[in-house]
Amino acid sequence: VSDLSALKLFANEYVELDEITGYSERHGIHAAPFLTVTTNEAAALTAQRLAPRIQDKVVVEIGGGLGLLALHMGVYAKRVFCIEANPVWAAGFARILMERKPPHVSYLFGTAAEFADYIHADVALFLTHSGVAQMRQAAERFAPEVIDLYGELIDENPDGFDPLARFLRNII
Ligand SMILES: C[S@@+](CC[C@H](N)C(=O)[O-])C[C@H]1O[C@@H](n2cnc3c(N)ncnc32)[C@H](O)[C@@H]1O
Repeated sequence: VSDLSALKLFANEYVELDEITGYSERHGIHAAPFLTVTTNEAAALTAQRLAPRIQDKVVVEIGGGLGLLALHMGVYAKRVFCIEANPVWAAGFARILMERKPPHVSYLFGTAAEFADYIHADVALFLTHSGVAQMRQAAERFAPEVIDLYGELIDENPDGFDPLARFLRNII
C-alpha cells in the first residue's frame, strides 16, 4: 500500500485518517503509515532471506505493519514479538491471525518504548523507508543486533535505487 487513499479506504470503517495522524503524533511515530509487506509471497521471501540470522533466535520486529512478516519469521525463529503502534493494521490482519497465529509469534499493540524494558531479544529488525532513525533507536533497546533490512539492501546495491530516494530515506 503506497498511497494514503488505500489507508483511508481501509481505515474508514474504524477511524478517520486525521485520527490516525493525531495518534501517530501523540505517540511520537515518525514513520509514514505505508505498508511495504502486503503479500504472503513477499513476507515468505523476506523471512527466507532473514532465516540464517534469525534461526532459533528471539526476534523483535518494530513497526510490523500487517504482521505478515512476523508470521513467516516464526517458521525459523524460536520466538517472535511483532510490535506495531498503529491499530489499523491489526484489524486488517485479524482473520489470518485467527486461523494461523502460532503461540510463539506474539503481536503487541503499542509503541516499542512501551515494551522495551520487558523484552530482551537476540535480533531486532524493522522494514521502513521513513522514520528510519527513530525505528533504529527503538530497535537498539531490544537487542544487540539490529537489522534495517531495506538499508542493507540499498547498501548492497546502491546503484539499483534512486539516488534521491536513497538520500531522503535518511531524513524523512
Ligand atoms: C512504513 S510502515 C512499514 C510497516 C511494515 N514494516 C511494512 O513494511 O509493511 C512503518 C510502521 O512502523 C510503525 N512504527 C513506527 N515507529 C514505531 C514504534 N516506535 N513502535 C511501534 N511501531 C512503530 C508505524 O505505525 C508503521 O505502521
